[in-house]
Amino acid sequence: MGVVYKAEDLKLPRYVALKFLPDNLTKDRQALFRFRREAYAASALNHPNICTVYDVGDADGRAFIAMEFLDGSNLKNVINGRPIEIERMVRISVEIARALETAHAKGIIHRDIKPANIFISMAGSKLLDFGLAKLQYIGGVASPSAASELDETAPPSTASGLLIGTVDYMAPEQLQSGPVDTRTDLFALGLVMYEMATGINPFIGTTASSTIANILKDIPEAVTHRNPSVSVHLEAIIQKCLRKDPDERYPSARALLSDLTQLSIEPRRLSATQQAQTVAASPLEVSRYLARSLFMLVQIAYLIMYGAALYKLQKLLQVSMQLFGSHTFGILVLADAVLGTPFRIYFFTALAFDFGDIGRQFKTVFPAILILDLMWASTPLLFQGQLQGLFILCSGALAFLPLSQKTLIYTAYGQTGGRSSGIRHDSRS
Ligand SMILES: Nc1ncnc2c1ncn2[C@@H]1O[C@H](COP(=O)(O)OP(=O)(O)O)[C@@H](O)[C@H]1O
Ligand SMILES: [Mg+2]
Repeated sequence: MGVVYKAEDLKLPRYVALKFLPDNLTKDRQALFRFRREAYAASALNHPNICTVYDVGDADGRAFIAMEFLDGSNLKNVINGRPIEIERMVRISVEIARALETAHAKGIIHRDIKPANIFISMAGSKLLDFGLAKLQYIGGVASPSAASELDETAPPSTASGLLIGTVDYMAPEQLQSGPVDTRTDLFALGLVMYEMATGINPFIGTTASSTIANILKDIPEAVTHRNPSVSVHLEAIIQKCLRKDPDERYPSARALLSDLTQLSIEPRRLSATQQAQTVAASPLEVSRYLARSLFMLVQIAYLIMYGAALYKLQKLLQVSMQLFGSHTFGILVLADAVLGTPFRIYFFTALAFDFGDIGRQFKTVFPAILILDLMWASTPLLFQGQLQGLFILCSGALAFLPLSQKTLIYTAYGQTGGRSSGIRHDSRS
């Protein structure tokens, strides 16, 4: 209902915003009353997210409120029909919820929360326009009687029963002239959050009465349908604010804040997790081809080792006899090579033909592979004479191979084994 000007303070080096009552309302007793009440309510609140009121006065018979000048734009212009970035949206919601928490603690219910009454400046968001505020009491500033004098004589509806202000963000109980409390502001804030997330107010109809009907009856479409980047948690918060029954909403701005701040930490946590996943996932995503190639290379390495062992069959048995006084160890190594060969050939060909089920199959036979490969890792024992201390290193490297194969095959075919996991298949495969 006001007209806001940017003005220069001649006493202090600063700009101020001067809000005047429009000319046609200067003689309107109710309008003047609401204007006084706005200044009264806002001046009682000292909060970084509430626009500071400096003074009230009269200039040539016109009432004005002097307040801090904010540089930026109101949220209505910021949204401008398009969703805003989720992190920014959560930040604004947290700031306005904080402003409401302070106002509610002072017994002030704003009753006109909407994007045009939220200002976005470099310093963050600021709540404006307490022109429809309901003053229950103003703790520490004025007596409850002064507050009620400023309030109850001027309800938000006129004598003719018409609602003052836009109905677009009003809670059902406010539209039905029911009892209004702090949860009424939380409904409107939920609606502002919905609009920030989707770019639209879901209740807007072609006329004020159709909007009212929508607010009273409609369940708004899921935010995630309109903006898939909204998390399930954020959706739940918005929907809880938008419950028709105030008892089903958040009981207080503090309760809403606690969920919202959780959420504002979450994206950071999430992005840290996502970052970690990306770091871990980057080789998965970009080098499936490489993973497959390395796995195939390992199979070839095994086949060469098996071939060498079988080729030197006599020698192995001899060394086993010399070292351990029996052929048993040599026989075990040879058996390993014989059993391992078909596995290696199978894995190699399956990988070569990019057989999608190989991950799952590998998972099934992995315990057997592990036993086989760990046994094989003891082969350098037979060469300890030649390799000396190096045989320990060779054994360690061989023992590591089954695990690295597991990593490689899961890299290429997904943790679940199948081809269908979230892993992106690169174009070369
Ligand atoms: N302190 C301020 N600094 C800068 N712009 C302001 C300030 N207060 C209000 N405005 C601008 O004026 C518009 C209307 O202000 P508001 O107090 O909501 O008046 P009304 O009672 O007409 O709704 C706001 O949406 C905002 O764009
Ligand atoms: Mg306004």
